[in-house]
Amino acid sequence: MIKISYEIKKMRSANGEITVPGDKSISHRAVMFGAIADGVTHITGFLKGADCLSTIDCFRKMGIEIDVTEDMITVHGKGINGLSKPSEMLYTGNSGTTTRLLCGLLCAQPFDTDITGDSSICRRPMGRVTKPLSLMGANIENEYCPLHIHGKEITGIDYKMTVASAQVKTALILAALYANGDTVIHETEKSRDHTELMLGAMGANIKVRGLDITVSKTDKLTAQDIDVPGDISSAAFFLVLGLILPNSEIVIRNVGMNPTRTGIIDVLKDMGADLEIFNERTATGEPVADIRVRSSKLHSTKICGEIIPRLIDELPVIATAALFADGTTVIADAQELKVKETDRIKAVCDEFKKCGADITPTADGMIIVGNKPLCGADFETYGDHRMAMSLAILAQRAEGKSTLSDSKCVDVSYPKFFEDFYELNDV
Ligand code: S3P
Repeated sequence: MIKISYEIKKMRSANGEITVPGDKSISHRAVMFGAIADGVTHITGFLKGADCLSTIDCFRKMGIEIDVTEDMITVHGKGINGLSKPSEMLYTGNSGTTTRLLCGLLCAQPFDTDITGDSSICRRPMGRVTKPLSLMGANIENEYCPLHIHGKEITGIDYKMTVASAQVKTALILAALYANGDTVIHETEKSRDHTELMLGAMGANIKVRGLDITVSKTDKLTAQDIDVPGDISSAAFFLVLGLILPNSEIVIRNVGMNPTRTGIIDVLKDMGADLEIFNERTATGEPVADIRVRSSKLHSTKICGEIIPRLIDELPVIATAALFADGTTVIADAQELKVKETDRIKAVCDEFKKCGADITPTADGMIIVGNKPLCGADFETYGDHRMAMSLAILAQRAEGKSTLSDSKCVDVSYPKFFEDFYELNDV
């Protein structure tokens, strides 16, 4: 097979304004929760990336009418018990969020479901959701896709989370909406809380007290229109681009600033980044702001502990920033990186090394010695959207030509990434 690689064009500096696409986590949830609500949900700012389109496809197969137009998604909710048995296997593509959240939602339905996804999804662990769901009485065959879900009656549990994962937490919350009795979920570290916010606003029986979430059986969710803010995980690439390229200034509009997601802002500021957050406001219960970033002299930092779930998806691009920082940056407690779209500890270290970076993988993160001379390389993306975008940023400061094994994978979260990227080029 002939492999066509993608050459990354170089920019001298990056200047201008950008609006990143909608938040992936919120877009998934808007469709899923809208589907089981009473009434019609209008979603603006929806991310039409491959992952969220997989979610739409799965719900259509369960009888939910969903209209997709240029600037709006309309979900015709059928109520909490309105899903119908799909006539074929649900296909979740590359989307871990779709797969894991569906396990929670479908284990208590009065029908069976089969779910599978692409080769990456089939390698990702599903035991982290199927095991706690089985404590509620759920019956899901297999710990890797394809999964077979035998829908049945389930019961609430008191559960202490063993991983800081919003996908696991949300799967349990969705199951708990259907379970007999209360479910109490104890988080050890706070993960993104879009589910709690959105379901709370839709009238679910859900209470959050610190790290504890109590959910009881819910007969009715009420549809509400949702304005999805821009994804801070997509803004992250432009934050780092603006910082590491000389003479750059980028304004990123309408970025979701939920505190469970803003770890990257804290870390970059700690590294000496010139970041300004302004126009702070709220959109459908989620904090939103504009961010101005300017080229900055960065220094190293240590990233570990409670902040990790607040920036887990941003670690590949934070590692990119660390390549251009004085000193040694240590990333620890981030073993979750190993079970993302690819093993992101191995992928980041192997690819960064190709261009001469001083980077060492560890069991739960990596150690990066900054400001080493870097040269261009032929990078492998592993079909991972965040790897591809992080490497495109890195290539801007590597001497000579760089290529990506695949650029199409950015479709998962940011289909127009390269267009927006080169728009900022003022060479
Ligand atoms: C997500 C949760 C995170 C994140 C993923 C989206 C979500 O995964 O990495 O991109 O929407 O709930 P984990 O729950 O596995 O940490």
